[in-house]
Amino acid sequence: MEQYVIKGGHPLIGEIEVEGAKNAALSILTAAIMINESIMINNIPDVSDINVLLEAFIIIGATVKRIDRHTVQINGGTIDSVSVNCEFVKRIRASYYLVGALLGKYRKAEVPLPGGCNIGSRPIDQHLKGFRALGADVSVHHGVIVASADNLRGAHIFLDIVSVGATINIILAASLAKGNTVIENAAREPYVVDVANFLNGMGADIKGAGTDIIRIKGVEHLHSKSYSIMPDLIEAGTYMFAAAATRGNVLIKNVIPKHLEAMMTKLKEIGCIVEEFDEAVRVCAKWKLKKTYVKTLPYPGFPTDMHPQIAVALTLASGISIVTESIFENRFKYVDELIRMGAHIKVERNTVIIEGTSKLTGARISVPDLRAGAALVIAGLAAEGITVVDDIIYIQRGYENFEQKLRSLGAKIEKVSSETEIQKFMFRAG
Ligand code: EPZ
Repeated sequence: MEQYVIKGGHPLIGEIEVEGAKNAALSILTAAIMINESIMINNIPDVSDINVLLEAFIIIGATVKRIDRHTVQINGGTIDSVSVNCEFVKRIRASYYLVGALLGKYRKAEVPLPGGCNIGSRPIDQHLKGFRALGADVSVHHGVIVASADNLRGAHIFLDIVSVGATINIILAASLAKGNTVIENAAREPYVVDVANFLNGMGADIKGAGTDIIRIKGVEHLHSKSYSIMPDLIEAGTYMFAAAATRGNVLIKNVIPKHLEAMMTKLKEIGCIVEEFDEAVRVCAKWKLKKTYVKTLPYPGFPTDMHPQIAVALTLASGISIVTESIFENRFKYVDELIRMGAHIKVERNTVIIEGTSKLTGARISVPDLRAGAALVIAGLAAEGITVVDDIIYIQRGYENFEQKLRSLGAKIEKVSSETEIQKFMFRAG
């Protein structure tokens, strides 16, 4: 089992480039198997969730060729099964996009119910409601979603809850349905816009992505058009808050600043200097951070995927801060780990109450999920002394070269896989 060992207390200073967005790549790669031609997708992050999805494509017969670390060529024309009969695909949430893509293309799909990060109950009723509205029979048998349709027909669908996954999944199936589909109360996240742009480039007719009403005119078939995935706003945000928590100064490059507005606003509120460029932002934290109140909301609100990272920064701010989680019911497992590090933090229902302290102290902690893991590493970087982070496998799901990138900013962090290596690191770190 690999771990991170960190000697904290060094401000992060320097420049960093973010990769393509994991959550956009997962849906775009799945949309790519909806055509029977070869297609090239660029700017894919090299993270384990993406690699699991590509493995699932191979299992159903698609041709997947890794051109280089960030480019993949896919041909969905060789698919010979609509049954994604493999246990490992359950590990990722985005396996649910296979239902929309296969149902749209072949009018049939069998996909295990998705897993993903354990951040509370994560129903997919809105996805299934959407497929049924398009005319599919959908049931769940022995943990597998079974969907089929003689005819997929456009429909008017009102989502009861704003859902990124359901919005994208309905777009996938409706793109190849007959007639017009309208999705109301659609998610406005940039990932939705990216997959709509990709599909439109392949000949789909999708209007309104990025607003809460999306209109899709079904087309007969889609064709190949290479595409480059948008930059990862959550990876960018993670380094922005790492700069804040360590009182650093970091230029984060290859970003779309518009996507980062909610985070930049909060960073300014807590006392950071934030500079915005065409494709970069700089975060500089010269002074002790100040308290704030923040509530996670669907885009353009403050992202739930940045909740643990801002909470960590606020453990070191003056005064009492409050973080309210309104998207996922149990995104609080990092709190007990922070208490081990000396944070004054508690959870009351869906609210985290943080009394800022002057320092965190290194401890042995374990990662409960992807974003909490990144946040706990930030805590280790800001803390006095040595922190050992167990279960980093969760972090590898969504952050490419995490420890290398942090090291390039001056962090003292290493990936180790034994107690001996931890001891050696501690000896070297002094
Ligand atoms: C996507 O999850 C992301 N995952 C999540 O990223 C992200 O946190 C989330 O969107 C919100 O931005 C992927 O893109 C693979 P939702 P998703 O459907 O689509 C409820 C990360 O760390 N809901 O927008 O599963 C749901 O329980 C991950 O990268 C229903 O009730 O999220 C939640 O409370 C974690 N019924 C809310 O809606 C449904 O049918 C929003 O979930 C669907 C969702």
